[in-house]
Amino acid sequence: MLVLEHVAMHYQRGRDILPVLEDISLQVEKGEFVALIGPSGCGKSTLFKLIGGLLTPTSGTIWLEGQKINGHTGHISYVPQHNSLFPWRTVEGNAALALEVSGMPRQQALQIAREWLPRMGLAGYEKAYPQTLSGGMQQRVSFLRALLSPQELMCLDEPFGALDALTRLEMQRWLLDVWEQHRRTVMLVTHSIEEALFLADRIYVLSQRPARIIKEVTIPFNRPRTPATMALPRFIELRQEIHALL
Ligand SMILES: Nc1ncnc2c1ncn2[C@@H]1O[C@H](COP(=O)(O)OP(=O)(O)O)[C@@H](O)[C@H]1O
Ligand SMILES: [Mg+2]
Repeated sequence: MLVLEHVAMHYQRGRDILPVLEDISLQVEKGEFVALIGPSGCGKSTLFKLIGGLLTPTSGTIWLEGQKINGHTGHISYVPQHNSLFPWRTVEGNAALALEVSGMPRQQALQIAREWLPRMGLAGYEKAYPQTLSGGMQQRVSFLRALLSPQELMCLDEPFGALDALTRLEMQRWLLDVWEQHRRTVMLVTHSIEEALFLADRIYVLSQRPARIIKEVTIPFNRPRTPATMALPRFIELRQEIHALL
């Protein structure tokens, strides 16, 4: 469904050129959960901005369902790395945003958002404003907004990065649950090897900047995954293998 063919990206800084992505070729199948893992600053968020069309690659091609989408926005649902909720919109207003943008009448969009909130653990928070929620709850609202958007591919950029360890674990299980029931196509950027191994079907490991793909790992664990998955010998081996690469 998504194919990147020899994608490279350089930023121009005044007269200097900063090469960020060197030569990225990858693909994501419909319904697949793919994680991208790589050191901080290697270009992971840049890669998502390219897929989302917010930036145009210096060279190479991005295909979505056979269409070239270099520099075209609106084809994916994107949860950016930093909180992207609108402080002047309520929880339901934020969650309904993607539906409204796609042309659904506001009342209908709000109705759908309200039906979903209890499943997100947000019952009773319909009219609350984002700044009154915990970090984990805010992330669930961002995630619901992405889930309700009509685009098939969801790109999640370190969605749990700012959370404390316990909330993070809870959110990972929750995401896994939602995903196992709804099977969207997901790309997840993370710098946690465990998170990638626990959640994804496949992992691409990126090098330091300028990023290349240094390894592709197909994750052998059955679903549904449980905390016991993380204790499997193969899980620990894979974690060590990937750790040694980074
Ligand atoms: N708009 C920009 N202009 C110039 N340099 C940028 C810009 N955005 C990011 N960078 C640089 O590109 C590199 C990769 O950034 P980023 O994609 O955010 O990395 P990651 O998400 O892997 O941490 C970093 O060195 C960053 O400073
Ligand atoms: Mg980033």
